Amino acid sequence: MTTYDLVVIGSGPGGYVCAIRAAQLGLSVAVVEKDATYGGTCLNVGCIPSKALLHTSEMFDKATHDFPAFGIEVGTPRLDLPAMLAHKDAVVEANTSGVAYLFKKNKIDGIRGTGSISGPGKVRVTDTVGGTSDIEAKAIVIATGSEWTPLPGVTVDEKRIVSSTGALSLPVVPKRLVVIGAGVIGLELGSVWRRLGATVTVVEYLDRILPGMDGELAKQGQRILAKQGLTFRLASKVAGVDASGDVLKVAVEPAAGGTAETIEADIVLVAIGRRPFTEGLGLAETGIAVDDRRRVIVDEHFRTSVAGIYALGDVVRGPMLAHKAEDEGVAVAEIIAGQAGHVNYGVIPAVVYTHPEMASVGRTEEELKAAGIEYRAGKFPFSANGRARAMLEKDGFVKVLADAATDRVLGVHIIGPLAGELIGEACVLMEFAGAAEDLGRICHAHPTLSEAIKEAALAAWFKPIHL
Ligand code: FAD
Ligand code: NAI
Repeated sequence: MTTYDLVVIGSGPGGYVCAIRAAQLGLSVAVVEKDATYGGTCLNVGCIPSKALLHTSEMFDKATHDFPAFGIEVGTPRLDLPAMLAHKDAVVEANTSGVAYLFKKNKIDGIRGTGSISGPGKVRVTDTVGGTSDIEAKAIVIATGSEWTPLPGVTVDEKRIVSSTGALSLPVVPKRLVVIGAGVIGLELGSVWRRLGATVTVVEYLDRILPGMDGELAKQGQRILAKQGLTFRLASKVAGVDASGDVLKVAVEPAAGGTAETIEADIVLVAIGRRPFTEGLGLAETGIAVDDRRRVIVDEHFRTSVAGIYALGDVVRGPMLAHKAEDEGVAVAEIIAGQAGHVNYGVIPAVVYTHPEMASVGRTEEELKAAGIEYRAGKFPFSANGRARAMLEKDGFVKVLADAATDRVLGVHIIGPLAGELIGEACVLMEFAGAAEDLGRICHAHPTLSEAIKEAALAAWFKPIHL
């Protein structure tokens, strides 16, 4: 029997990054993966394919709506959906095979099969035809990720009633798409199919979209997305979907209770959140504790309740984000190798890749108010930014929140062009505990979108120049 220093179960961004860093630090490593390709949710059916479709559908939308104003005449663009989906699949393939290459390069053994923990230091692998083999490990990392949360009364068949996975591969553009959940998946994939021609209705239980994000940002986001054609049914819930006929009949009722109304749809997307995936891992048998939301409980060093077994990524507490899982992967590998791995949960950006993008890092205004922290907010609109005007990207703003007493930046929230790229600068500043004045005094190239960040920082500290 082979004994490894480390066996990682799951090859998503948490697992594969952990494996690579551990191998770089000199450990012998194996990764057990049940699926045919590496990369987990993110590379196969998550971040990567969704961003491929978001990019291409945005290009399609721009060609239709922005090109004439730019003075470019191309006629009416025609959609070649199979080619668009093929591009997405090619991007996925390039990324997943990239992980296989990195495993080879770092001498990591990739083992195809479902892993279960048969005791401390012991992993049993069941292959695709039911055969089993055992491997030993000085340390085990659970990186088994998450799965979509089902909604009672709504049976997902991945054809007409789909999860995000089905929504990434619809063979034709639906005439009417109903999205359940105005979270990140609902807004991103709702945007994709709206741009390609679907009528999209988003049903959300709460009275706002994107719970957890800064309220002002979410409100502005909703206004812009509504202008683009997304219809929002807030404070509403889906009581069930009748799939007996050719047309899906979605029963929508007020969240507080009341009369149900029927909305007709060709496709329904269920996107009400994700939950940890731990099926068949043998957690109970091994005595690994989970919380009331089925998340594997870990301490600040990612140790589970059983010695030598660690967990990270979507299967543990914290935001379900690929970069959070990756950073935890690095930290866990370093801890196992005897170093001081650490993740700063105060500076994890979140990005919604709609158009315009929405990006946040640090605390929201709501959180600061609830914590009783005195702060100053500085805002700058993209309508006053030269580069944004040239790009016809005038919607949105940057908001910098700074501590009223110390001027330290506590949060940055951006809705606007390339917000997901722009937020990186705020992360660097906050990681180094920078102040709004620091950010406002740093020289930013002109004309760039990032000048809006500088101006918002100046507004939080004293006064912006260009407003
Ligand atoms: P996963 O990526 O879920 O990987 C877990 C792996 O473990 C899987 O490959 C699974 O097959 C394997 N596995 C599970 N059990 C076993 C077992 N017993 N034996 C062997 N293998 C097993 N996040 C972002 O940051 N940015 C985005 O833009 C973004 N977009 C997304 C879009 C969609 C549509 C979805 C669904 C998610 C998106 N996410 C995004 C979230 C992101 O995908 C997850 O946060 C991330 O993949 C979590 O990484 P992980 O390594 O913890 O788990
Ligand atoms: P989510 O948690 O972002 O949003 C779910 C939404 O559904 C919430 O607004 C919630 O109030 C609503 N909801 C819950 N139950 C409902 C019901 N019965 N009826 C109507 N609405 C209901 O979850 P989502 O969008 O499924 O995404 C899952 C996770 O995947 C996210 O939390 C995020 O971490 C990750 N993700 C990240 C992306 C990114 O970083 N760009 C993109 C896509 C997913």
